[in-house]
Amino acid sequence: MIKVEDIVYARFRAPDLDKMEAFLADFGMQRYARTDTALYMRGVGSDPIVHVTELGDPGFVGLALQASSEADLESVATANGASVETRTEPGGGKHVLVHDPDGFPIEVVHGLDKLDVGEVQEIAPLNARLDKPRKGAVKRMKAGPAHVHRLGHIVLNVTDYPKSYAWYHEQFGLLKSDEIYIGDENTVIGAFTRCDQGEKFVDHHTLFLLGTGKPGFNHAAWEVADLDDLMLGRDVLNDKGYTPVWGVGRHILGSQVFDYWRDPWGHTVEHWTDGDLFDASTPPGKASVQELLGKQWGPEPLEDMAG
Ligand SMILES: [Fe+2]
Repeated sequence: MIKVEDIVYARFRAPDLDKMEAFLADFGMQRYARTDTALYMRGVGSDPIVHVTELGDPGFVGLALQASSEADLESVATANGASVETRTEPGGGKHVLVHDPDGFPIEVVHGLDKLDVGEVQEIAPLNARLDKPRKGAVKRMKAGPAHVHRLGHIVLNVTDYPKSYAWYHEQFGLLKSDEIYIGDENTVIGAFTRCDQGEKFVDHHTLFLLGTGKPGFNHAAWEVADLDDLMLGRDVLNDKGYTPVWGVGRHILGSQVFDYWRDPWGHTVEHWTDGDLFDASTPPGKASVQELLGKQWGPEPLEDMAG
């Protein structure tokens, strides 16, 4: 078993790379590289790629996970009868390609280029009830797309949740943060999972496996700079006439502020900020599907989020 550090990018297919690039620019990413057959987008974080689009029929392809070392890539390769290859796509590095129990291609990557973290506008701090650090200064910000920093998590609908969780745990060390039950507490249908990085604090969820009986892409979620950045980005997506799905609200499980939209081919993509961080010592929690789909504040979803 290796312990992956994080998720890196999501890979999609779409028949029009110009249209995808325009959407993703409005969503808060920038072009890192483009070929005749693929588009590679970055955020303002150090990862060269947070979103890949291959030219073709629209759909979700798979995802990439970050390994700590090349030795870890070798371990994954040996355990799966695969081989470590040099990546031929932009971003450099090496990878091993494996397939999860539903056949989703999972790239385990290491040694991708690291970019300088991009600047994001400094917005004067919040004046809270008893703590008002903004004195003698006004709060002004520049309108424009959000600043996607990195990919934070992906939710996959899976055929058999226990089987998928066992695979991701055994292959990559993913830990359960919260299991989700429907009706009876013993009827577990999925779980939020996070990376095991020992004492280091990591996102409450990196991969959510939802046992719907039918494999499919549910959504992918990119972290933005902060709440103002998320709201500024929302204005751009609204003004451009893209399709909203759910938000703005604050989730219960993971606690992040969320805003869900559709890309031009209907893939659900999320902006989020201010999520919970756990280290490996936090035991798994249990929560109902109502808590999963509920929120601490915010509107009801406009569309079915389980789909
Ligand atoms: Fe999400």
